[in-house]
Amino acid sequence: MLRHLIDPLDLSREEVISLLDLADDMKKHPENYREKARYKKLATLFYEPSTRTRLSFEAAMLNLGGNVLGFSDSNQSSAAKGESIADTIRVIGAYADICAMRHPKEGAPLRASRYSRIPVINAGDGGHQHPTQTLTDLMTIRERAGRLEDLTIGVCGDLKFGRTVHSLIKSIIRFPNIRLVLISPEELRVPDYITEDELKAKNIPFTEVRSLDDAMPDLDILYMTRVQRERFFNEEDYVRLKNSYILTVDKLRPAKESLAILHPLPRVNEITLAVDDDPRAAYFEQAENGVYVRMALICFLLGL
Ligand code: CP
Repeated sequence: MLRHLIDPLDLSREEVISLLDLADDMKKHPENYREKARYKKLATLFYEPSTRTRLSFEAAMLNLGGNVLGFSDSNQSSAAKGESIADTIRVIGAYADICAMRHPKEGAPLRASRYSRIPVINAGDGGHQHPTQTLTDLMTIRERAGRLEDLTIGVCGDLKFGRTVHSLIKSIIRFPNIRLVLISPEELRVPDYITEDELKAKNIPFTEVRSLDDAMPDLDILYMTRVQRERFFNEEDYVRLKNSYILTVDKLRPAKESLAILHPLPRVNEITLAVDDDPRAAYFEQAENGVYVRMALICFLLGL
């Protein structure tokens, strides 16, 4: 059966766990998977900039013995001539076995999936969702904390436009005893559809606060995010809000020894460089894990 990954909830909780188990094994024994996707082709259709997602998808397919094709700048594709997503994906289906799409418009990968004969993976759509980043986040949380349940998770920064935040919240609250501390300026609060439909409707304990310092001692996981300049309507607002939270070594003093600090990256200045030397910093490991979860996902969606 043709499956896509557009929203994190397209995967059941059991499927997520099984993908993470597979990704763990791929990380430990990459040699066992070198021929897994031989002769298969991944198309990366990136209508918006990316470093980690596109290159880790490509590395994932190459690690599996497959091939990659695609574009990283929509101006180099026929989108620049006005071609629709529906027509593009119909054509790509004849050239590749699976496709990862990033698009500035929310819902573009969903639309593509409706016209596609190959699996479509949402590699980030506007300020909406980023489900493969969530798999990366979950793998890193499980590696660091040893579990995906009974965790106090602080999510800090731009919770309005940060698509990785929306996907992570939707996915992690399916695990037992998750407590969320949502730390943001008033203007960058998590959207109502998340607080109402996901958190309140499902009785998930959460607080919305302004102070990272007050929240710090309770946290098992701190998920920092960048203020998403590209989603703001005016530069003035961005400049006013961009330095709302800057994590420093000093701010980490009251934190638990076992805290894990995550960030989907890229960072601008919300985590100072000195924090990189703290053993609690997990964000580069998180970026590396992106390759293994994408290897696992490609195998899952292609039925390999
Ligand atoms: N985390 C993430 O999506 O990074 P890129 O924008 O570099 O792909």
